[in-house]
Amino acid sequence: MPVALRRSTAEDLAFVTGLERSPENVQGIGQWTDLEHLAAMQSPKREHWVIERDGVPAGYLIAFDAREDQAGIYVKRILVAEKGQGTGSEALARYLDRAFGELQARFAWLHVRGGNTRAQGVYRRLGFQRFDPDPDVARRFSEAAESTGIGAFRMLLAARDWGESKGPSLHP
Ligand SMILES: CC(C)(COP(=O)(O)OP(=O)(O)OC[C@H]1O[C@@H](n2cnc3c(N)ncnc32)[C@H](O)[C@@H]1OP(=O)(O)O)[C@@H](O)C(=O)NCCC(=O)NCCS
Repeated sequence: MPVALRRSTAEDLAFVTGLERSPENVQGIGQWTDLEHLAAMQSPKREHWVIERDGVPAGYLIAFDAREDQAGIYVKRILVAEKGQGTGSEALARYLDRAFGELQARFAWLHVRGGNTRAQGVYRRLGFQRFDPDPDVARRFSEAAESTGIGAFRMLLAARDWGESKGPSLHP
């Protein structure tokens, strides 16, 4: 079941927005306009990836490169079409390989809603832990990426913990 990431292009817009706005997902995931997705695809500080499973689009992942602001890599959004089949975990693992390998990020972090237990399970299994920083760090993270929404919290994975978590967690 090979899962791979490839850079999104404007030709992927219909797939990405169709998935994001589908009745199954519209309540559970942030909503962007077409222009916001296109801007993220073109920005040097944003990463917009199509998740492919067996060579077929299966979801997407968006990240912000906040390293210059000492705020690591922020995983803004991950969404897969067919849930519970390992695609999301595998895709995020591939992205973390990039974040801690090619990009040499010191840490990656994200927001998750308190009620989103499936996503929390995926993140914990990959080694993310809840992160409640002091106000100065919280402000830096919020300014570099975005602030934490009501009912959500931050989770963080340090680069030094990635090598340990990815092997056993993905191949128990
Ligand atoms: C979150 C998401 C990306 C995860 O991808 P996925 O392919 O569904 O996840 P996986 O199949 O890799 O793993 C799901 C795990 O969660 C577990 N799980 C499923 N439902 C769960 C629940 N209600 N509570 C806790 N764990 C749950 C599964 O058992 C599985 O664990 P396992 O592999 O140890 O059995 C995907 O479900 C999704 O797109 N959700 C909607 C959007 C979203 O919430 N995105 C994240 C916030 S931006």
